[in-house]
Amino acid sequence: MLHLSKIEVSIGGSQILRGVDFHVPPKSVTCLMGRNGVGKTTTLKTVVGLLSATAGSIRLDGQELAGMAPEERARAGIGYVPQGREIFPHFTVEENLQIGCVARGKRADSQLDRIFQLFPILKEFLPRKGGVLSGGQQQQLAIARALLTEPKILILDEPTEGIQPNVIDQIGDTIRLLRAEGAMSILLVEQYLDFARELADNFAIMDRGAVVAAGQIGGLTEAVIQQYLVV
Ligand SMILES: Nc1ncnc2c1ncn2[C@@H]1O[C@H](COP(=O)(O)OP(=O)(O)OP(=O)(O)O)[C@@H](O)[C@H]1O
Ligand SMILES: [Mg+2]
Repeated sequence: MLHLSKIEVSIGGSQILRGVDFHVPPKSVTCLMGRNGVGKTTTLKTVVGLLSATAGSIRLDGQELAGMAPEERARAGIGYVPQGREIFPHFTVEENLQIGCVARGKRADSQLDRIFQLFPILKEFLPRKGGVLSGGQQQQLAIARALLTEPKILILDEPTEGIQPNVIDQIGDTIRLLRAEGAMSILLVEQYLDFARELADNFAIMDRGAVVAAGQIGGLTEAVIQQYLVV
């Protein structure tokens, strides 16, 4: 459903991505892994349209995304939860959620009940400013905001980073539920190997700006882990 082919990206004159190739099959969870600084976030930002590729193609259900603005890509079905969450701290939870809907040109109400089922704490905290929520609650808000755009593919950049274990479990449960519903594919950057193994159907591993190993998660061998993941 999402196909990246020979993606190259340069930032400030240095080439960061050197021909990234991988695909995310429909109705599945794909985990993009690799050590710090190998280009995982750069790859996601290029899919979302925050960075532009100098070469290569990104297709979502056959539609070429290269050259489209981020908001057009959101309308085409890309949902994005950035690394570090990036919610609006001075806006309330309710306003943060409304922004998700505006991005897709939809009213919030129809989807909100479902969001509150997934994340009951958000309903309770609707009038609070985003900035006063805990890291885990902000992560839930960022995921909720992305879900309100009703994406075909939900892209999450290190959703478990800096979050306490019980909230990690909750985020894992949410991803599992979304997968089981089968309404969207999920592309996840994750450094926490156990979390990736539990959730993912497929993996792709990056090293120095390219994908160096990919396949079904069951085929992720100890040798590959040692070579590309262990620090
Ligand atoms: N705005 C920028 N200006 C200059 N270099 C950048 C910029 N953004 C990223 N880079 C460089 O590009 C490379 C890839 O960065 P990227 O953030 O994609 O890595 P990552 O795999 O997501 O790492 P992490 O696991 O730490 O999040 C790094 O060497 C980084 O220093
Ligand atoms: Mg990153």
